[in-house]
Amino acid sequence: MLVAGPLFYIKTRPPYHKKLNHFQTGLVIFLHVLVSAQATTCPQNCECSGLGRTVIVKCVNKDLNAIPQPLPLNVKTLFITGNDIPHLKHDAFPQSLDQLTNLNLSRNKIEVIDPFVFAKMPSLKQLDLSNNRIYKFSPKGFSTNNVLHELNLSSTLFNNSFIEEISALVRNETLVNLVRLELSGNGLVYLPEDMFTSLPNLKTLALRNNSIVNLKNGTFKNLRLKSLDMRENSLKELSNATMDDFDQQPGISIQLVNNAWVCDCNIEDLLVWLGRSDAVLDKGELSCAFPDSLRDTRLLEVNISELHCPFYKDMKSVLQTSYVFLGIVLALIGVIFLLVLYLNRKGIKKWIYNIRDACRDHMEGYHYRYEISTDPRLTNLSLNPEV
Ligand SMILES: *[C@@H]1O[C@H](CO)[C@@H](O)[C@H](O)[C@H]1NC(C)=O
Ligand SMILES: *[C@@H]1O[C@H](CO)[C@@H](O)[C@H](O)[C@H]1NC(C)=O
Ligand SMILES: *[C@@H]1O[C@H](CO)[C@@H](O)[C@H](O)[C@H]1NC(C)=O
Ligand SMILES: *[C@@H]1O[C@H](CO)[C@@H](O)[C@H](O)[C@H]1NC(C)=O
Ligand SMILES: *[C@@H]1O[C@H](CO)[C@@H](O)[C@H](O)[C@H]1NC(C)=O
Ligand SMILES: *[C@@H]1O[C@H](CO)[C@@H](O)[C@H](O)[C@H]1NC(C)=O
Ligand SMILES: *[C@@H]1O[C@H](CO)[C@@H](O)[C@H](O)[C@H]1NC(C)=O
Ligand SMILES: *[C@@H]1O[C@H](CO)[C@@H](O)[C@H](O)[C@H]1NC(C)=O
Repeated sequence: MLVAGPLFYIKTRPPYHKKLNHFQTGLVIFLHVLVSAQATTCPQNCECSGLGRTVIVKCVNKDLNAIPQPLPLNVKTLFITGNDIPHLKHDAFPQSLDQLTNLNLSRNKIEVIDPFVFAKMPSLKQLDLSNNRIYKFSPKGFSTNNVLHELNLSSTLFNNSFIEEISALVRNETLVNLVRLELSGNGLVYLPEDMFTSLPNLKTLALRNNSIVNLKNGTFKNLRLKSLDMRENSLKELSNATMDDFDQQPGISIQLVNNAWVCDCNIEDLLVWLGRSDAVLDKGELSCAFPDSLRDTRLLEVNISELHCPFYKDMKSVLQTSYVFLGIVLALIGVIFLLVLYLNRKGIKKWIYNIRDACRDHMEGYHYRYEISTDPRLTNLSLNPEV
């Protein structure tokens, strides 16, 4: 399929057109078509539409297992979605696509992204890589002079173990123009330290629907965010260091609803901060998940003087319980011992008498022996005094 590019080109220049005879016009058109043939040929399995020099190419749900070639060189918006392309090799986009601004590679089952895959897209502003299963993403994926503004990595990691791949990529210092980063729905449990420090222009960070438990000091340090979405995570509290970092970013809007806020004494700093800061958009909707006595209580309605430190309290009561238990056990053992003694009193009596008799016999033996040894007439008997 040919795009109307060349005709449009000639129509916009009527004076130039007038000076040519029909043969020359035909030749110009022919040559132009030849030169721009590649720029205007639509790959198989794709649909191309163009108005002037804006070309949109869509290769959607076609079971492609590689990037279709050759792509029109003047493509501006490229959708290759819903295919089966496990590996983006370094030559997936062999020619420079100078005008490409929007690239959508969502839902392609992409697992591996080689170095330099996006290096020949000097105008690329928006890249959607959501809903893949990436476990390898080269930190050299982009050229140093890229102008990428939006990167969508929602629901795209193979599993949360591979966050380090993304961390290495965004720390590479090539994504200095990035304004928006989406990392929602990746089951993340933590954010690597200093992950965002090489993104000086980042304004919007979406981390919704993960399982992030806490935020390390300095995760958001030196950023100038306008919007941070951390809804549907597993945050228990926020530390002073994190809230200080937020205070350094004027105009930031944070969303924190549906986290696992633990309303014990450790959440006091957060409550104080929520009271004085307007940075959290949904602060009126935040509610305690633990302890049971405060479940679903709004954070803003919690009475700080009634917060407990359950860990220490529990330890104390556990210790007390175990002392009581130990005492009871010792008492029981004592009682059983006495009972055994009492039930066996006859046997014990007999046994004591036996011992006493044995002792007496023994002592008497000595006595006899003494007497015998002093009386020469009884010497024979002393041979066996026990009998
Ligand atoms: C990419 O394509 C998907 C459909 O597969 C669509 O939902 C998504 O909004 C597109 N992303 C952009 C940035 O247009
Ligand atoms: C960062 O990306 C650039 C450009 O792709 C590359 O030359 C450089 O080696 C990368 N740095 C690291 C540490 O991977
Ligand atoms: C990123 O991708 C997800 C899933 O396709 C979509 O819901 C979200 O709107 C996208 N974000 C942007 C900025 O395109
Ligand atoms: C993630 O996948 C890798 C490779 O299959 C596996 O070794 C690892 O245990 C998985 N991690 C989690 C948290 O499931
Ligand atoms: C939340 O993320 C999980 C993956 O961790 C995904 O399966 C689920 O669809 C996401 N939910 C929403 C509402 O986006
Ligand atoms: C947090 O900061 C407040 C006020 O600046 C201070 O009173 C509190 O002790 C700090 N909390 C911690 C755990 O350092
Ligand atoms: C994080 O910051 C808090 C409060 O500012 C401090 O008490 C704590 O030691 C810091 N943690 C680390 C690992 O630096
Ligand atoms: C908070 O709790 C303290 C102690 O139980 C009580 O004296 C005070 O009235 C409570 N304040 C509010 C606003 O409920």
